[in-house]
Amino acid sequence: MLFFKKKRPEYAFVDIGLTTDVHSHILPSVDDGSPDAVESVKILTELHRLGVRKCIFTPHVSRSMFPNTADGLRHRFDTFMPAVPEELRNDMQFHLASEYMVDEFFGDLTDRLYWPDGRILIEMSYYQRSREIKETVFNLRMEGRQPVLAHPERYVFYQKIYDKKKGVPEIEEMVDMGCELQLNVMSLTGAYGPYSLDIVHWLLDHDMYKFIGTDVHSRGQLDHFKGFQLTPQQLDKVRILARNNETLFE
Ligand SMILES: [Fe+2]
Repeated sequence: MLFFKKKRPEYAFVDIGLTTDVHSHILPSVDDGSPDAVESVKILTELHRLGVRKCIFTPHVSRSMFPNTADGLRHRFDTFMPAVPEELRNDMQFHLASEYMVDEFFGDLTDRLYWPDGRILIEMSYYQRSREIKETVFNLRMEGRQPVLAHPERYVFYQKIYDKKKGVPEIEEMVDMGCELQLNVMSLTGAYGPYSLDIVHWLLDHDMYKFIGTDVHSRGQLDHFKGFQLTPQQLDKVRILARNNETLFE
């Protein structure tokens, strides 16, 4: 039986116990996330109010859309930090990583930004699977890097082949290859449609996610929170993901 939580973000966030966010577009003016420091501080203030204390910034890096360099992002991070109010800085920890588009150029990147424990967040286009995805996961593993695929439930090509009994075998294959999966908080509300929610439920029921992130791009996204569509058992599993997030900073 599904249950619907009340329509206030604090219920949802407090229910999960999300204290560490592993995926966010808060670093200003580097991608399609926050456009300026004022908006970024608003997002951080709201996340702090919702209980988040550790936050990994993961700006997009893709040659075609967001050709950010690691050095450019480090510089942006250093210039943004003084704009964060002291009370937030004292009570929160920030870490700069990236969300890497797996494309033909990914392999050429020599300087990359990782999660605090060395994991790397990767993504694909929502509409087209990356031709290089398997090779990239394999190569990263060979390098001793742990890849984490962002929001598998959001990819339309996976949604199209979802099967009630089998789920999405392609996703399972990725996990078998050693790729970990990161769930989006927003996906739990059904915000990305019923097919995405089907995948969320299937992957939760089969214990295939490892981490959870907000993937927040704007303050408004947190305002329009609709509540989770989860069974109590699924909610318990989401809480475990939030605990896994915490281990990244240990
Ligand atoms: Fe993202």
